[in-house]
Amino acid sequence: MEKFVIRGGNKLNGKINISGAKNAALAIIPAAIFAGEPCRIENVPDISDVKMISKILRHIGAEVTSPEDGVLVIDPTNVKSDITIRDDMTKKLRASYYLLGVLLGQYGSACVALPGGCYFGVRPIDQHIKAFEALGAKVNTDNAVVKVESEELYGSSIYLDVVSVGATINAMLAAVKAKGLTVIENAAREPHIVDLANFLNSMGADVRGAGTEVIKIRGVSQMHGCTYSIIPDQIEAGTYMVAAAAAGGDVVINNVIPKHLESITNKLEDCGITVIEGDESVRIISDGNHPKACRVKTSPHPGFPTDMQPQFATLLCIGNGTSTVVEDVWDNRFKYIDQLRRMGANIIVNGDTALITGVEKLHSAPVEADDLRAGAAMVIAGLIADGETTIENIRLIDRGYEKLIEKLTAVGADIARVHFDEE
Ligand code: EPZ
Repeated sequence: MEKFVIRGGNKLNGKINISGAKNAALAIIPAAIFAGEPCRIENVPDISDVKMISKILRHIGAEVTSPEDGVLVIDPTNVKSDITIRDDMTKKLRASYYLLGVLLGQYGSACVALPGGCYFGVRPIDQHIKAFEALGAKVNTDNAVVKVESEELYGSSIYLDVVSVGATINAMLAAVKAKGLTVIENAAREPHIVDLANFLNSMGADVRGAGTEVIKIRGVSQMHGCTYSIIPDQIEAGTYMVAAAAAGGDVVINNVIPKHLESITNKLEDCGITVIEGDESVRIISDGNHPKACRVKTSPHPGFPTDMQPQFATLLCIGNGTSTVVEDVWDNRFKYIDQLRRMGANIIVNGDTALITGVEKLHSAPVEADDLRAGAAMVIAGLIADGETTIENIRLIDRGYEKLIEKLTAVGADIARVHFDEE
């Protein structure tokens, strides 16, 4: 087993380079199946979720190789669509359900065990099913396996009742080769939706409007291979922005698209943190004292990202006054607060709202990662706590943060990955 050991109190100074976006890669890698021939994908983050989605693609017959760091070459020539993607794979990776959209769109059928992934409340897939049925597919969900099939898929109007990243992506994937025009309304607008659309169009698809709430897709009969580079990870960048703000110091975060970070930058400025935007960087200057209290409410892009909620709440634990954090995307994403309380945080949770009263300092404690972003929040808490904090369950952090130890130690953090015997 492994844990992180962090000695808090160091300021952070220097440069951090951001890797490719996890949530773009998890959609783009399966979408390469549409090419019918090899695709070269660059700026792929070296994280366990990418290893898992690659394993799933190999399981159905694709060849996935990595000729150099950060590059995947995917050859879908021998993919078989009649293989069930079992729950031992899907429970580890929620994004495995993108294979439903891809295999339905490319071969007319798919069979994927109901997905797993981070647990923060109910995670239904009713909107995915609504999209598949609108395109003419039959959907069966008996025995916790989702079976979708259709002789032919026809373009259709799909109104998503909920702004859903996953349902928007699955609708796009199922529609790219459907006959005629598909209009997805109330679509999610995240940067990774736009990145997927750009990738699909690089393979010859016709997807317009990604990044707005209306996406129009004209089905094509043939697609082809391409070389594509994945956008920088908005949430990885935001995590290091907040870490620098909390620990104090002067950190330049490179390889970012500042526009993707606007809501995070805006909130940090509300807290009195200096953020200087470059063309492809953001610089965080902070004295590490108590940030101003503020109000944060998560919402779909371009709002404040729910995947930044635990990290930002941790910063507010040492805020000057009382802050409120409203989680408006997921129905139960405050589980990590019990871990922060072990470190002396003063937080009251009432439904979708956390009331955070700033304390002088957090103190070190043995804590664990409840999920990927909660784990990132524990790292930030360890960086600012007195003494030595240990974090277990760090395989959940490894799902989405490439070279986290290297990136943080390079700017002065005292953090290490330590092996230990389970008993
Ligand atoms: C994606 O999850 C991300 N995961 C999540 O990031 C992120 O928190 C979420 O989008 C919101 O931005 C990946 O991209 C792999 P949703 P997804 O469908 O697609 C409800 C991380 O840390 N909903 O946008 O599963 C749902 O219950 C992960 O990187 C339905 O009601 O999220 C939720 O309340 C954690 N019916 C809301 O929509 C549906 O059919 C948003 O969920 C689908 C969703």
